[in-house]
This record gives sequence, C-alpha cells and structure tokens, in this order.
Amino acid sequence: MTKINKIGVFTSGGDSPGMNAAIRAVVRTCAYHGIGCVGIYRGYQGMIEGDFEELNARSVRGIINKGGTFLKSARSQDFRTAEGRAQAHENLKKANIDALVAIGGDGTFTGAMIFNKEHKFPVIGIPGTIDNDIVGTTHTLGYDTALNTAVEVLDKIRDTASSHDRLFFIEVMGRDAGHIALNVGIGAGAEEILIPEENLGLDRLIESLDRSKKSGKSSSIVIVSEGDNIGKNVFELKDYVDQNLPGYDVRVSVLGHMQRGGSPSCFDRVLASRMGVKAVESLLDGKSDLMVGLVNDKIVLNPLERAIKGQTKINKNLIRVSDIMSV
Ligand code: F6P
Repeated sequence: MTKINKIGVFTSGGDSPGMNAAIRAVVRTCAYHGIGCVGIYRGYQGMIEGDFEELNARSVRGIINKGGTFLKSARSQDFRTAEGRAQAHENLKKANIDALVAIGGDGTFTGAMIFNKEHKFPVIGIPGTIDNDIVGTTHTLGYDTALNTAVEVLDKIRDTASSHDRLFFIEVMGRDAGHIALNVGIGAGAEEILIPEENLGLDRLIESLDRSKKSGKSSSIVIVSEGDNIGKNVFELKDYVDQNLPGYDVRVSVLGHMQRGGSPSCFDRVLASRMGVKAVESLLDGKSDLMVGLVNDKIVLNPLERAIKGQTKINKNLIRVSDIMSV
C-alpha cells in the first residue's frame, strides 16, 4: 500500500449546495492528519490542464455557508479519452498527489472508476447532486437545500395562484428521478405530482383537476419533474388542459437552476463535513473505489460501481400520502 502524503480534491458535473463545505472538510481533515491537500479546478478538465492549487486549513475559511463550488465544476470531454486521462495522471504525479476525493454525481464517479482501473489511482467519491439519484446514500449533498429552496418558491407561487384562482404547472429539476418533485410537491401542498418513475396518465390528470374544481378548490398546483413520464412538458401540459378542461386559467413556471444555488442548509453542511472526514480517512486506511454515503444516520462506504449502476427508488408511500392530501 503506497503511503498517502497528499490528496487532490475536485468537484465535477452539476454543482450543488454543500460542495464548498465538503471541500473544506477534505482540506481540514488532511491538515488534521498532517498531510497535504491540493484543490483541482474545473474537475477533470483542470486535472488534464494541471490547474492545481495547494490548500491549507486557512484557505477554506468562510466557505461553509457558500453555495456553488469555489473549485468550479465542468463536464470534460477530453477526460473521456485515454490520452486525456493519461495527461491527467501525469499531472497528478508531477504534483505529488497520491489519491483523489471526487465530489459529484454518477458521471463523475464513472470517470473516477475508469481512471482508477487504468492508472491504479486511489479515489473515494462524495455524492454531490441536488437530484438525490445516487444509490448508496439516502441523501446526496445539496438535495436538502434544493428541497427547501423549491418549497420557498412554491409558497410564493401559491400566493399569486390563489389570488387569481389559477392552475400552475411548475417544473422542478430531476432529469431521471422524481425525489425533488415528490417531496416538494407534498411540502408545498400540490394537487398532483408528475415524476419520471410513474406515469399518471393524461386522463387521470384531467379527471383529478376536474374533481378538484368541483370540490371547491379555486387554485391548484401541479409539480412536474423535468424528466416526467407523462410525455408532455409543462408548456404542452398547459395547452392540453386549455383544450380539454376549459374553465381553468393556466400558467406555467420553470424553477430551473435557482434550485442548484444558494447557501446550504444546516443538514447539508453537517453531511458535507461528515462525508469529507470519512473520504480522507478512508483513503488513509488504504481504501479506494468507494463512495461515502449516509444510511440510517451512519456514514457508510459502498463500491463506486454500485452507485453508478444502481437506480434509486422513489418512496411509493409518498405518492399515497400526496393522493390523500389532495383529496
Ligand atoms: O444533475 C443535476 C441537474 O440539476 C439535473 O436535475 C438537471 O437536469 C441538470 O443538472 C441540468 O444541468 P446543466 O444545466 O448544468 O447541464
């Protein structure tokens, strides 16, 4: 087992609140154990270009509360090639970096696994994405903050929806997973929630909206995950309702990237700190090719491969709760 004297840390893929807190935790755990830490800018692309900076405990002051990632993030096409990865490896060796902490989602972990196989380079992953679509953890970094951000905005939309007796279709993020939609839908009291994992069907949607109106509801909110399975986006849904359910005054709102920004919640800051400590100490224990996760309030390790190949499941009980709440 090679002794680890210096660890490189980077963020990659879509950013998420809590990434800065995780970088801080990695840097400070390295300082605590008396080893060096290097920040790699712009993820794999910065690794290929040698965009590195030595970090110490004081370099990460004042960032635990900041959204985004000060190391910046990128999706690198060059790292998809063997030449790109060989260049990255050479740069890491030149900078005396012995191991990596990769903070990101499944794309980041796929790159990390290939790199580890090709160059036998120790790596531990920290799941950072608002979508919560990574197997091996009940919470990814940034998910909790994104839920709170979205609920706050939905409360505001509800104010105007009820003033005008309107129906709103609101798109939230979640390309492949409905965790955000399902939870903010319940949290904000939505009538219906459309997610990638289930197809409610257009007929049922129309029936449900019709029933709502007849039961005396004057305004309604339908949450639509961007990857929903009903086959229509929020604008097409508006047109469909206009044509099939006259009498509704329909508006559309796409929350978009605001869900990825903002100061991390306390939950995400604590999670980031715990995951950062575990990631560094696992590397120091000679572990590699693993992802840290949170399960039953314990920080656990799982193979990166499991995180990439598996598909998270939505909590079906939440669908039932939502149905009951919108009676
Ligand atoms: O993976 C997180 C995510 O926020 C998805 O929900 C969304 O589809 C995607 O990133 C958007 O990414 P970008 O605009 O950065 O390409």
